[in-house]
Amino acid sequence: MSNEAFQDPDLYVVDSAHCPDDWQSETTSIGSSIYRGLMENGRRYQTLRNKDYILPSDERQFEAYEAGHLVALIMESERNNPFFRSPIGDSPQHILDIGTGQGTWAIDVADMFPSATVRGVDLFPPPVSWTPPNCILEVDDVQQDWTWREQFDLIHMRIMIGSFDGTEWDNLYKQCFDKIRPGGWIEQLEVSPIIETDDGSLPPENILNDWGPNMLGCGERAGRDCDTFDTMAKKIRNAGFVDVHEKNYKWPIGPWPRDQKLKDAGTVNFQHWINGVEGWCMWLLTKFGHPQPWDKDEVHVYVAKLRKELKDSRFHIWHQGRRVWARKPMPSGALDNAEKGSMTGVYWTEFTDLVASHRLCSQSSRGKGPDNF
Ligand SMILES: C[S@@+](CC[C@H](N)C(=O)[O-])C[C@H]1O[C@@H](n2cnc3c(N)ncnc32)[C@H](O)[C@@H]1O
Repeated sequence: MSNEAFQDPDLYVVDSAHCPDDWQSETTSIGSSIYRGLMENGRRYQTLRNKDYILPSDERQFEAYEAGHLVALIMESERNNPFFRSPIGDSPQHILDIGTGQGTWAIDVADMFPSATVRGVDLFPPPVSWTPPNCILEVDDVQQDWTWREQFDLIHMRIMIGSFDGTEWDNLYKQCFDKIRPGGWIEQLEVSPIIETDDGSLPPENILNDWGPNMLGCGERAGRDCDTFDTMAKKIRNAGFVDVHEKNYKWPIGPWPRDQKLKDAGTVNFQHWINGVEGWCMWLLTKFGHPQPWDKDEVHVYVAKLRKELKDSRFHIWHQGRRVWARKPMPSGALDNAEKGSMTGVYWTEFTDLVASHRLCSQSSRGKGPDNF
């Protein structure tokens, strides 16, 4: 056997003393390995958390996030604020977006509320080069203990389906409850993977009918239930939140609806699906596919078949979206004089400020129903 050492042809050499190669650096290795992620089946996955996250964090998936963001906005386009429904008033101070993805929601909300510091947090660094000065995008695992010192007016989550097991969801809602100010809000928007039709235009044997049950089955086997849209309201209530509101949406897939708003939403949602579908199922099917884990090529064939059917505009298909928003109650006996006497001066001042700001919020939304703040 030859003792000759062969050169790694994939090693990229930077020929500059001022910009050393990544492997020579003493300071950038952790950061750059987080950016580099883990390549598997042609997709890039986060490496910050020891436990896998089911979706890739790569440009293709970010395109899908962008489209999903637009669909959510179009579905609320008749409202002045299409980003959320929680009645937090016009000058919130602290807002958090968990699982911010590309960070687009956090950036848009920071633009809309200059009074607020809007934080977006994700396992993978959001791929943005500029944010408004009041928007901070952070890389962290929200299943770890939180180090933010502020109390949030609003904590928002969107399309976190399949991110956590049941206990992790409970922990997360508890951390949210602890970190939201009394009278502050939590809000979550989720979508169902089940593809539906109202007019029977999708034949029962069509592969699109298989998608939802297939994903739900994989999620269950993976211990990452994909029915978050059904379970979140109960879990939010169990964490102690009150005034729990729900709004259901039909997110059309494709430009088939007559109504212009729904046609626009369906056109963008079609792109959401076309860009997203491979990433949504690659990890789940190659690890937890039925009857045994699928190989990458099987997934590619499946995705190609799904895409072909998604393009058929004779199918008037949609999937369900659901928004839940709920309030953290004020402490019981908040205005009780006996309790007031037992509080320290600092605590009491902060507390009365909170009560006052809560009253302002209540006044601004007085007389308006939960669905039309
Ligand atoms: C489907 S994406 C949705 C992104 C964004 N919310 C949106 O609607 O466009 C879910 C995001 O949650 C992030 N995520 C999952 N688990 C997380 C964790 N433990 N800590 C922080 N972010 C997490 C993922 O990295 C991913 O970017």
